[in-house]
Amino acid sequence: MAMGTAGQLGLAVLAACGLAGVPAAHAAGKRVGNVDAGRSEVMMVCAACHGTDGNSTDPQYPKLAGQHADYIEHQLESFQKGRRSNSIMSGMAAMLSQQQIADVAAYFSQQKTAPGPVDTDQVALGKSIYEHGVPAVGLPGCQSCHGPKGLGDAAKLVPRIAGQHAQYVVQVLTGWHNGQAWGDGPHARLALSVGQKLSVAQIHAIAAYVQGLNAVP
Ligand code: HEC
Ligand code: HEC
Repeated sequence: MAMGTAGQLGLAVLAACGLAGVPAAHAAGKRVGNVDAGRSEVMMVCAACHGTDGNSTDPQYPKLAGQHADYIEHQLESFQKGRRSNSIMSGMAAMLSQQQIADVAAYFSQQKTAPGPVDTDQVALGKSIYEHGVPAVGLPGCQSCHGPKGLGDAAKLVPRIAGQHAQYVVQVLTGWHNGQAWGDGPHARLALSVGQKLSVAQIHAIAAYVQGLNAVP
């Protein structure tokens, strides 16, 4: 079913339910992150918003703990290149060298995601969308890409979303819903179409569900 509905999304990248792999430019000449150097950089700059261990306490800032290193690098490069834009993060990313990006990504990816609170009122609708999508508009379940536990897929640059702050997830999905793309690559276009197929009420329900997905890998 996931494949059929994904087809309705018009997503060629979803061949056999697999997204395009890590972009070639990313795989080639990749720097090896140094966790200790990453920790120092995080303590000096990033911790103020993302927490010392990547578990932000203010829910407008995403948790980065346990996120795939390649995905963190990909997003920092997107901010640097202007594919993704944010008044705070675009400036933060601009200050980082490629080596620092690899270092902070290595550090955050090795931290453990803190569990998020479960919002029982929203769980039923959120769970249904997570697992089955919204067939009426051709949206496949989130789990078809993000996995049944929300752990994502490192090799395909699909992010971990389990335990992420609901407020941040609402921010992201609402941005896509309103047409603010993260660039025009296949993954960005895919993410945009997910946001555009969800209603505002569905966005709130799915965000609450994702926050409470306290998956242990
Ligand atoms: C003043 C607050 C602040 C600081 C300091 C900060 N960030 Fe952020 N960060 C944000 C906000 C806000 C977002 C969400 C941006 C958006 O909504 O697109 C974000 C998003 C991110 C993302 C994208 C996460 C995702 O799940 O897509 C990464 C990666 C990131 N920050 C890394 C860093 C790193 C590395 C540093 C330190 C060099 C840092 N940030 C410093 C506020 C901050
Ligand atoms: C067809 C595959 C696919 C489906 C289905 C899908 N996603 Fe995603 N999602 C992705 C990819 C790929 C990205 C990364 C986008 C990028 O790199 O620009 C992403 C990114 C995200 C992010 C941003 C994470 C971050 O912090 O950077 C959130 C939140 C998210 N998806 C939530 C959802 C939810 C909720 C659903 C179900 C309603 C869903 N996704 C369905 C593939 C998918």
